[in-house]
Amino acid sequence: MNGPAADAGLDTLLADIDAARSQGLAAIAAASTADELSQTESGLFGRKSVLGRIKQGFGSLPAEMRATAGRALNEAQQELRTAHADAADEFAAAARRTQLQQEWLDLTETPPGPGRGHLHLVTQTTERLEDVFVGMGFTVSEGPQAETDWYNFEALNLPAAHPARSMWDTLYLDLGERTELGDGEGGEASSVVLRTHTSPVQIRVMESGAPPIYTICPGRVFRRDTADASHMPVFHQIEGLVVDRGISFADLAGTLEEFTSAYFGKAISSRLRPSYFPFTEPSAEFDITCVICGGAGCQTCQRTGWIELGGCGMVHPNVLANCDIDFEEWTGFAFGFGIDRLALMRHGIDDLRDMYTNDIRFLSQF
Ligand code: PHE
Repeated sequence: MNGPAADAGLDTLLADIDAARSQGLAAIAAASTADELSQTESGLFGRKSVLGRIKQGFGSLPAEMRATAGRALNEAQQELRTAHADAADEFAAAARRTQLQQEWLDLTETPPGPGRGHLHLVTQTTERLEDVFVGMGFTVSEGPQAETDWYNFEALNLPAAHPARSMWDTLYLDLGERTELGDGEGGEASSVVLRTHTSPVQIRVMESGAPPIYTICPGRVFRRDTADASHMPVFHQIEGLVVDRGISFADLAGTLEEFTSAYFGKAISSRLRPSYFPFTEPSAEFDITCVICGGAGCQTCQRTGWIELGGCGMVHPNVLANCDIDFEEWTGFAFGFGIDRLALMRHGIDDLRDMYTNDIRFLSQF
């Protein structure tokens, strides 16, 4: 087919293609949601779409007409595909914007104000320790922070001139000439001190109740120390005291091991090293696996794999006697360690002073 008739046929075909193209673009532009857009797809690109049908009719066209009409058809289809893809991108971007808007969180740092607070890290640590020991059958005891010389030293087998008193850098309170505070047996209270350890609570517990005793005594203690990364003049200890029939050093070691894995987890264990305390005999220091390196050796544990936690030992017979407990019938063990240092290790804090400078940004992390 050639000549005018064929030309007229081609013109009509090209006009049809152009009309389908404009209608297609209008349909794409009219879609106001992603769903509406996808509903236009079969009408635009399907076999039964206007362009699809025109294409199917190509088979019966003469070759030269098919070439021209085919090019026009391809261009129209390409234009519709691009317009459709652009519109789809627009809807996807809008959906993402809406989602971001809905999920937006305000992470701006707000200045400290009256909001909901929480317990201080040291208090949290103390409560966790109490939980672990209460779970093991211990009771919790407390004593005063200002103690007489008797409770803090003398009853603990540390008489006035005992050289081991220098193990504790004591803060003495000036209460005038004499005090009316209790002086226990044997001596007058010549001085009152801020307790240097929680061991005086042992004496108060033994004085006020008969064995068997299984108790822990957490509390604040004071020493004449200058604050640095690992020392504070005010800090916290937890004391443990057990007095019963047939208590041996093995019970002490077993209790500390049990506590260590209950508090730190099974990967951490304890060991004892010979030491000296006037109120225990024999005495030991107890170490735990370094919680930073897990025992491999690091800077914190000075490459030993162990960290020193506290002191312990079998309650000295003189101490039991000072509390009117028959040391032929009863034996016991005691231990004591620092709570603040424990919190420090558990949370990888490297300066003890941070716990007490009351910076809300630091404290609110725990
Ligand atoms: N009171 C000791 C101290 O502060 C620790 C300790 C407690 C040691 C109980 C032995 C038994 O260093």
